Amino acid sequence: MRKILIAALVLITASVTWAASDDVFSLRGNSPLNADSMDVMDKKWRDGEGTVVRSYPQQPPLVPHTTEDYAITKDNNDCLMCHNWKSELPGATKIGVSHFVNRNGQALSSISPRRYFCNQCHVPQRDVEPLVLNVD
Ligand code: HEC
Ligand code: HEC
Repeated sequence: MRKILIAALVLITASVTWAASDDVFSLRGNSPLNADSMDVMDKKWRDGEGTVVRSYPQQPPLVPHTTEDYAITKDNNDCLMCHNWKSELPGATKIGVSHFVNRNGQALSSISPRRYFCNQCHVPQRDVEPLVLNVD
């Protein structure tokens, strides 16, 4: 019984020392709760570096530019300014034929409602380091 108690005491002391160690801290940093956290990293949108290679067939391609200034509302879709077949802006990949097919398999003359909200499937990227590294 005494041995078990001593072992438990050693374990508790070890974990308290470990928790108080400077190497272990939350993503907020070591700042006290009532103070500001450490500065957040300045994250840059991936932009102007060309399209991103797809990882598997039928993957919705990643957006290789910032989307911060483009809004999608019920009445207007900024993405279509460049990506629609009717748009005259050169350089932007045109939306595929799959985007004109409705859920009953019918081909439409304009974008299908189920493909209207582009950012449901297409996401832009930021070039960031992982917040927490995987340790071997
Ligand atoms: C001002 C024009 C413009 C607007 C608006 C625009 N894009 Fe783009 N987009 C481009 C161009 C140009 C490219 C090609 C970039 C390249 O080749 O480097 C591109 C590439 C893409 C690609 C990658 C295509 C591929 O084949 O890999 C996706 C996905 C995409 N855009 C989605 C969007 C979405 C979603 C929006 C709206 C939130 C949007 N774009 C708004 C011009 C635009
Ligand atoms: C429900 C998911 C979904 C939505 C919503 C969607 N897409 Fe896509 N998109 C895909 C998939 C999956 C692909 C790849 C296969 C294909 O072409 O259908 C794709 C392909 C593309 C491509 C590349 C076409 C090519 O020929 O290489 C562009 C550009 C694109 N989408 C733009 C858009 C834009 C702009 C919108 C909004 C108006 C949009 N998508 C909405 C899923 C979606």
